[in-house]
Amino acid sequence: TIPQEVIIKEVGPRDGLQNESVIISTEKKIAWIEKLTNAGVKYVEVSSFVSPKWIPALADADDVFRYLKRKEGVTYAGLVPNEKGLDRALRANVDEIGIFVSASDTHNRKNVNKSIDETLSILKDVVKTAKREGKSVRGYLSTVFGCPYEGHISIGQVERISNILLEMGVDELSLGDTIGVANPVQVKQVIRQLKTTIPTGKLALHFHNTRGLAAANIVAGLEQNIQVFDGANGGLGGCPYAQGATGNVATEDVQYLMESLGVNTGLSLKGLVQAAKYIAPHVGLELPSYQHRLAQKE
Ligand code: HMG
Ligand code: MG
Repeated sequence: TIPQEVIIKEVGPRDGLQNESVIISTEKKIAWIEKLTNAGVKYVEVSSFVSPKWIPALADADDVFRYLKRKEGVTYAGLVPNEKGLDRALRANVDEIGIFVSASDTHNRKNVNKSIDETLSILKDVVKTAKREGKSVRGYLSTVFGCPYEGHISIGQVERISNILLEMGVDELSLGDTIGVANPVQVKQVIRQLKTTIPTGKLALHFHNTRGLAAANIVAGLEQNIQVFDGANGGLGGCPYAQGATGNVATEDVQYLMESLGVNTGLSLKGLVQAAKYIAPHVGLELPSYQHRLAQKE
């Protein structure tokens, strides 16, 4: 059996744009986010409060939050790497803080210029402050299923860092297949191991679709009773500090999958496709989303 209902969390405005060389205007980002929430999206990762030198495409995170008209019942989240990012996020009054660390030390160093242990010690304070300020915190663990630099990542390492993040007070942990190398059997193995110490209700899955296996991996997650999946509208996305990392699985493709399985998400496929159609010309790419491509032919 699989869950009857899942939540799809939209990371397009953050993960989707961070890897793009084009700079989308603040107004267009906001218009895109509105189209997403009009399609029923209840959770959107709006931007990230990282160094603008590292991720120029999201340098306007503060302004996106400032000018965004928030809808009741929608969680508007922001990613932060350190205390400075948290200060900015708190001033922007984000609803939820996202933090991130990698399961591979090499990827972590490329991504945030620090070892895993140094990062965990920074994040411990970030989570403490965020909690004191009444914010919920989502933790991302990257390269869970493989690293572009180190290759195989042991389940033991994933379990160790996952537990450290949860002990810090992270409310939900999103397991990232940063470079899209996971397969369904591996997903099953990793989740079955984590389930021995972590309730499934605390876990989410974040798949990049680099090799076309995201949908199969999501089904493997569903079969393990995971109920939260990340997607990026249009299939945009990637990590600029992970060689070969490409798009997240498209939210509308996850939606199609859930509809075909009879799993409720509260999202409108049509609305998601319209949102993808809106952002496509601005990023100037042919979007990897299957549903967007099908709609182009109609
Ligand atoms: P650093 O250069 O080692 O940091 O970067 P630093 O502390 O020495 O600071 C350097 C400069 O940045 C200073 O400014 C700081 O003030 C400034 P300067 O004195 O040179 O003018 N700075 C900041 N400015 C604004 N906001 C901040 C901030 N922090 C420092 N928060 C740092 C370290 C962590 C800042 C940098 O490496 C960084 O920003 N990295 C972000 C990388 C990133 O965003 N990667 C993608 C997100 S993770 C991901 O995509 C994976 C995920 O999707 C899951 C998955 O797919 O697996 C989540
Ligand atoms: Mg990602």
